[in-house]
Amino acid sequence: FSSALVDSFNRRHDYLRISLTERCNLRCFYCMPSKGVELSPSENILTNEEILRLARLFVKSGVTKIRLTGGEPTVRKGISEIIAGLNELRPYGLKSIGMTSNGLSLHRRLPEFIQNGLTHLNLSLDTLDEFRFELMTRRRGLPAVLRTLDVALASLPYVKLNVVVVKGLNDSEVLDFLAMTKDKPISVRFIEFMPFTGNKWDAKKMVPSSELLKVISERHPDVMRAPDELNDTARTWKIPGHVGNFGFISSMSDHFCSTCNRLRITADGQIKVCLFDAKEVSLRDKIRSGATDSELLATIGQAVLGKQEKHVGMQDIDVVTNRPMILIGGRRSPT
Ligand code: GTP
Ligand code: 5AD
Ligand code: SF4
Repeated sequence: FSSALVDSFNRRHDYLRISLTERCNLRCFYCMPSKGVELSPSENILTNEEILRLARLFVKSGVTKIRLTGGEPTVRKGISEIIAGLNELRPYGLKSIGMTSNGLSLHRRLPEFIQNGLTHLNLSLDTLDEFRFELMTRRRGLPAVLRTLDVALASLPYVKLNVVVVKGLNDSEVLDFLAMTKDKPISVRFIEFMPFTGNKWDAKKMVPSSELLKVISERHPDVMRAPDELNDTARTWKIPGHVGNFGFISSMSDHFCSTCNRLRITADGQIKVCLFDAKEVSLRDKIRSGATDSELLATIGQAVLGKQEKHVGMQDIDVVTNRPMILIGGRRSPT
């Protein structure tokens, strides 16, 4: 394991999130400011070769898990080749190739992605109601996402569903989502709404996980805590007898920074060591000025050493200079 990926709090970063694009085919309000975002000039977006070079360097330094994000990753041309290129890094220690997608245009292409090496899919789906889907994403598309879910369940051992819970919008659907886990290997993760530039975050719109657990245990008194995966963002729970499970990603009320093992590369080639830290360092500029692998690794190591112990807490997160989620590596932006 390269010391470049170990920070000053001794956290080892073996999980890399790579954003493939700033574009998206949905426009979720919590991810993208209503006036849209200014897209980086296309020449600033990393090429496939640059992405694969960085991925190789990270894997050789100890990364075992890569997740492709966006924007919406499937909007990027050549994503299939990127997955295939990542698959060639297995001999160097890469174990998992995941993707977080809104599933809107994935059902036809998923089998090809899996064949090329994709191992994990997290689907972002906040509501099971078509009207509300349009309200939250500013687009139609629920049936297409559900089709993707079916294809994914037929071809992968399990699928994680990411549900960002917003008070008064979709918080009434929690039990409906749980019902999906009864017969299917779905892991539903209820996510606390997080503040980013332009997303009109308000503490009153955030539903703390503890509140959801109360509602759930009233309906399912036998609900029990289940083991979490290592370095997981979610605290996992299970209803006895259900095939799937559910969890809470409580980034706001109970952050998990002390076990954080993740680094990000934005679509425009910046390394970002913390989701909530506005500071970014350009790897793209380094690459394009002819840096060698060891020079690149030194830059990465410096960025990692600057990683803070934990995020500052919801009142003080700098939403002015930190970029919107869409430009960081969530998903969803204007096309
Ligand atoms: P797994 O690899 O399956 O564990 O997925 P993940 O939860 O790491 O990633 P995913 O893209 O599915 O993101 C789901 C949610 O996790 C996001 O909405 C965030 O709330 C949270 N999350 C992802 N990455 C980070 C991070 O680096 N820091 C914090 N605080 N939260 C994160
Ligand atoms: N709060 C919580 N989760 C968010 N995501 C995007 N923006 C936010 C936000 N403001 C989620 C997406 C996706 C994951 C990568 O991040 O729904 O599932
Ligand atoms: Fe890691 Fe930063 Fe997220 Fe905390 S807020 S888990 S340190 S990326």
